[in-house]
Amino acid sequence: MMFENKIIDEKKQGSALLINKKSSKKDKKVYIESYGCQMNFSDSEIVASILQKIGYETTRDIKLANLILINTCSIREKAEQTVRKRLDFFRASKNKETTIGILGCMAERLKSKFLEEEKLVDLVVGPDAYRDLPNLLKEVNDGRKAINVLLSKEETYADLSPVRLDKNGITSFVSIMRGCDNMCSFCVVPFTRGRERSREPKTILNEIKDLESKGYKEVTLLGQNVDSYLWTGGGLKKDFQKLSNEAKKNSTNFAQLLDFVAKNTSMRIRFSTSHPKDMTDEVLHTMAKYKNICKYIHLPVQSGSSKILKLMNRGYDRDWYLNRIKSIKKIIPECGISMDIITGFCNENEQDHLDTLTLMKAVKYDFGYMFKYSERPNTLAERKYNDNVPDKIKSRRLREIIDLQQKHSLEQNKKFIGRTCEVLVEGFSKKSNDDFFGRTTQNTVAVFPKGKVKIGSTVNVLITSCTSATLLGKIIN
Ligand code: SAH
Ligand code: SF4
Ligand code: F3S
Repeated sequence: MMFENKIIDEKKQGSALLINKKSSKKDKKVYIESYGCQMNFSDSEIVASILQKIGYETTRDIKLANLILINTCSIREKAEQTVRKRLDFFRASKNKETTIGILGCMAERLKSKFLEEEKLVDLVVGPDAYRDLPNLLKEVNDGRKAINVLLSKEETYADLSPVRLDKNGITSFVSIMRGCDNMCSFCVVPFTRGRERSREPKTILNEIKDLESKGYKEVTLLGQNVDSYLWTGGGLKKDFQKLSNEAKKNSTNFAQLLDFVAKNTSMRIRFSTSHPKDMTDEVLHTMAKYKNICKYIHLPVQSGSSKILKLMNRGYDRDWYLNRIKSIKKIIPECGISMDIITGFCNENEQDHLDTLTLMKAVKYDFGYMFKYSERPNTLAERKYNDNVPDKIKSRRLREIIDLQQKHSLEQNKKFIGRTCEVLVEGFSKKSNDDFFGRTTQNTVAVFPKGKVKIGSTVNVLITSCTSATLLGKIIN
């Protein structure tokens, strides 16, 4: 879904965030490091906002911080190992005055066990309990360890103005819902993020308008399953069919939310993640209707084998998925499509693996995020099935999937050569200060000589060549 390159992300040292004002070490300064999905990065901005109200400034310099927070991810074992290693590093540098807190999904999964296992940690806070941070910090200041991992049926942090961290001033995230009710058998998220809740449309638009007034040009609406978004006045997700006629009329589904947001702002709009079982043609038609909704869908498939999809409890089979792809290609022919795939899930045999490869060939994704199955404690798969594909086979299958995807990405990118694409300029290219980079509506990165344009402008770029990851070209307006 919602990830930069996730494989790389886990190896990377997270990313650190900030606003720097001159001040001494005595001031309240918080250093926040975030791991995992965009939701977590977005949550860190909510945390910064809550802490700002009690006088904390964010800093990028860990040495200046008296509060260090790690917003953690539990999605795969490796993601948790990365955080443990990071704690080892902090162990070496912690002094008496520094408070170390664990936020996010590992906090929720491990609860008080975290305090037992990692003695240097003072504070453990789950994703729905961030409003309690001021109280919890008081407890820590009084010399006690503090923990709040209560999950909520209502919390959407709708009224808070996130402090934009890691900002380029051009693109930003806006959470539209929290939690997940799906119970995919491999997935830890329903346990760490709780039940699904949608956020009030008005507050979503207000946040987007605020970003727009500050010069931002693009927002990504975030949720674990945006197609399941349903505003009915607050609280847990309700069954639409069981609503009264009056309530049905007053509700807002995802297609309606997209419509509402697209017509009330000129910002570019993206969203993540779509779920194949819930993605409707109504959403596709709304995307087609508005120029400012980007033509890009991240539609995780996880496997091309109906047998495995059933074991994964994904709620669709291969044919259903391919039918959704057919709809996308019919209603939005120019749409970029990406995926997530898990290889080596319980009982996956060579035929199932081949089914995944043939599905990839049928879809021809623009790009994808591909993972080896990692068993997570307490999930349905951990309780019911055997993690019985040997690691060596998982690695080989993953290699084959990645190689095929790279071939497809190159083929898909080559199709743009000779065409002109509209690109929102996001910043300098990684390789050269003479070049800018930005994204096409399909979410493909384009790099081009910067000429006289400014970051934040939208330019027409003639694509002249490409790699499997990047389009290369020149500005023509
Ligand atoms: N809500 C999104 C996915 C969020 S997790 C959706 O349903 O599409 C992001 C991705 O991590 C998943 O799509 C899946 O490919 C991968 N993932 C989740 N649990 C995993 C596990 N136990 N092992 C390996 N990959 C996993
Ligand atoms: Fe996990 Fe499935 Fe929910 Fe995605 S939809 S977060 S994979 S349980
Ligand atoms: Fe996101 Fe990782 Fe939690 S993917 S929801 S931070 S387990």
